[in-house]
Amino acid sequence: MLSIKDETHVRTLILNAENERDILTAGKIIASGGLVAFPTETVYGLGADALNPEAVARIFTAKGRPQDNPLIVHIADISQLDGLAREIPETAKKLAGLFWPGPFTMVLKKRINVPGATTAGLDTVAVRCPKNKAALALIKAAGAPIAAPSANRSGKPSPTKAAHVKADMDGRVDAILDGGDCEIGLESTVIDLTCSPARLLRPGGIGADALKAALGDIAVDGAIFGEMAQGEKPRAPGMKYRHYAPRARVIIVNGTAKNAADFVRSQLSPGVWALCFDEEDGFYDGVPHLCYGRSDDPKSLAGGLFSALRQLDRADVTTIYARCPTGGGLNDAVRNRLMKAAGFTQIGVDA
Ligand code: TXA
Ligand code: MG
Repeated sequence: MLSIKDETHVRTLILNAENERDILTAGKIIASGGLVAFPTETVYGLGADALNPEAVARIFTAKGRPQDNPLIVHIADISQLDGLAREIPETAKKLAGLFWPGPFTMVLKKRINVPGATTAGLDTVAVRCPKNKAALALIKAAGAPIAAPSANRSGKPSPTKAAHVKADMDGRVDAILDGGDCEIGLESTVIDLTCSPARLLRPGGIGADALKAALGDIAVDGAIFGEMAQGEKPRAPGMKYRHYAPRARVIIVNGTAKNAADFVRSQLSPGVWALCFDEEDGFYDGVPHLCYGRSDDPKSLAGGLFSALRQLDRADVTTIYARCPTGGGLNDAVRNRLMKAAGFTQIGVDA
């Protein structure tokens, strides 16, 4: 069992991402070893000076994050990459040119000055340049690259609104920089460039097709859509943990809209909910349900999923039957998060 100190005595400042003075205040907190939750275009991050091991250690305490799960280092400009990574391949520069700033993280060989606390002792470092004005301004104001996992308590869905961060982190971090809703709503694509072919570790805002178009061949890690075998060592340590999950059991229901709704109705008992597509609303009359986006609009699903899972994270919700999109691009990312929330449990309901 993990033993994590429960430190809940910090007074958490709420700062406004639109306000330049507040950004400077947040930058000073990071520069002096503190923790600031901040908006990015994907999800809110929980930031500390990536080169300060004591500051980074506080992230793990605040989140209750397992020590063996490395952090993504956020930079404001590609010129900061050289200070973090060594033997940077040409492909990394090409991908940075295509996808930075944006929802795209590259795993590269790390330089010795990046502390083991940030990379969980690995010889590699994950780096991303986010596409969010406040995030970029904060990195500049801090004068240092910022290590930041998603700003949720470990295991919970990532926060896509400042209110989500507050619910998880009030009293545990020095400040929350409120920048409204995150544009994408799911975490960045993570690709490992230290192996050949490059390996997709987590699907996100940059789809596998765009990566294949840029790189030719890529490998897709088996842990994205399948359960890992016992004792198997994950390439992205974060992939072995149950994730994105409300306290209820999540079960994915595959089949036509009508068959899925009929199945859920047949399972109805107190605590059973459906998480469905907007256009399926009419099938769920009399069944407690929440819609999280349109099945033909991946952006709406990505934007709605974590908020919906958080709304259903209540003591009186025991089972969530969830509808899951097919297809690639951003839908790969939606499916990966839902499958992880479900611990890969799926039911087919078409005869
Ligand atoms: O969109 C995002 O990526 C957000 C925002 C805040 O930037 N951050 C985020 O961080 O999702 P986190 O810590 O929740 O997820 C980082 C993932 C984990 O699965 C971790 O194991 C993996 O990236 N990772 C980090 N460093 C790695 C490394 N050196 N090698 C392999 N995987 C790594
Ligand atoms: Mg996370």
